[in-house]
Amino acid sequence: MTDLVVRRAGRLLTMTGAGVGALESAAVVVRAGLVTWVGAERDLPAGIGDVAELDAAGACVTPGFVDPHTHLVWAGSRRDDFVDRLAGVPYTEVAARGGGIHSTVRQTRAASYTDLVEQAGARVDAMSRTGTTTVEIKSGYGLTEPDELRLLDVTDELRRTRGEAVESTLLGAHAVPPETGRAAYVDAVVAMLPAARAHRAGWCDVFCDRGAFTVDEARRVLTAARDAGLGRRIHAEQIARTGAAELAAELGCASADHLDHVDAAGARALAAAGVVGVLLPACTLTMGHGDWGAAAVLRDAGATIALGTDCNPGTSWCESMPYVIQLACLAYRLPVEEAFRAATVDAARALRRDDVGRVAVGARGDLAVLAADHEADLVAHLGATPVTATVVAGRASS
Ligand code: NIG
Ligand code: FE
Repeated sequence: MTDLVVRRAGRLLTMTGAGVGALESAAVVVRAGLVTWVGAERDLPAGIGDVAELDAAGACVTPGFVDPHTHLVWAGSRRDDFVDRLAGVPYTEVAARGGGIHSTVRQTRAASYTDLVEQAGARVDAMSRTGTTTVEIKSGYGLTEPDELRLLDVTDELRRTRGEAVESTLLGAHAVPPETGRAAYVDAVVAMLPAARAHRAGWCDVFCDRGAFTVDEARRVLTAARDAGLGRRIHAEQIARTGAAELAAELGCASADHLDHVDAAGARALAAAGVVGVLLPACTLTMGHGDWGAAAVLRDAGATIALGTDCNPGTSWCESMPYVIQLACLAYRLPVEEAFRAATVDAARALRRDDVGRVAVGARGDLAVLAADHEADLVAHLGATPVTATVVAGRASS
């Protein structure tokens, strides 16, 4: 939490109003971590005092990116799965021979708490270097109450010790652990909800899909989550169309995520209920799920679209929101302005936050200085370093 003035933003995307709310030749003042002034630099009030300065040197400055969907607390590697899948081995076969989520569960359970904090922290560092300042983090590689709570504690430690805004989600219903029967495990997830809340989770998520949890199982877990005072979100329509989007609408989820196979009826249900559709194109690319039609289906239905990395070791090893924005534009054909909104103000909506994802008085002082004069250049310039400085609650790093 600190004081800072950002000068010479050639183009500042405020994300206020419709579109990207661009201001030319702009400046931003942050005090005690919050934005206190934003406008054209020539109008900067005199006497702002002796505060640190960041010279954007004419570059495009955006709100810090909001990543609303990650599984970033894990240990170990899934490189064998990756190589096998590249060689054409189906994911079901990879999972059947002990790979997939269960492989990461074994490696994560075996890791020390300190190692998990260190590795997860290094991933948040990588995110910060590419402009992310708010991150949602799911558990889900523990699959017993003590193991899941340990992962929530890792997330809470990151929240307490770092400047980024962190949202914590229990994803106990990620997979059925091999040592427990299916019905008994759904009971166990319901039973862990109060403890998850006590370990500072704000959200509950369920992997509702073919081969994962059914719509009825997801309804049971998420209804109990509501009763336990947790917000709801759901992995929906990733592998197959199951009706999980309609369930998200029925239960008032803040977001339905993945959605590679969402259809028009599901998208309309999301739009009508105000559920944000979170697209995860790095996962779609890695897994080859869907035909990249989901963004058009959601747009046609009038649903709000957000973007996230889905950062995880098996299906989306990606910390970079700029890379996700590039994929969204090039593969889903999202217009550049919509992709930037989806990575900032609309991703904040998916987390039900209005203090991040935009540059306005009272919002957190979170910014990304792009290595580009215009946001469209960030999309067009493939393989380049996308961000030259990130500001987290008024503290700049480059
Ligand atoms: O979001 N869809 C389910 N879970 C993760 C995959 C996690 C893994 O394979 O380790 C996902 O893609
Ligand atoms: Fe996911």
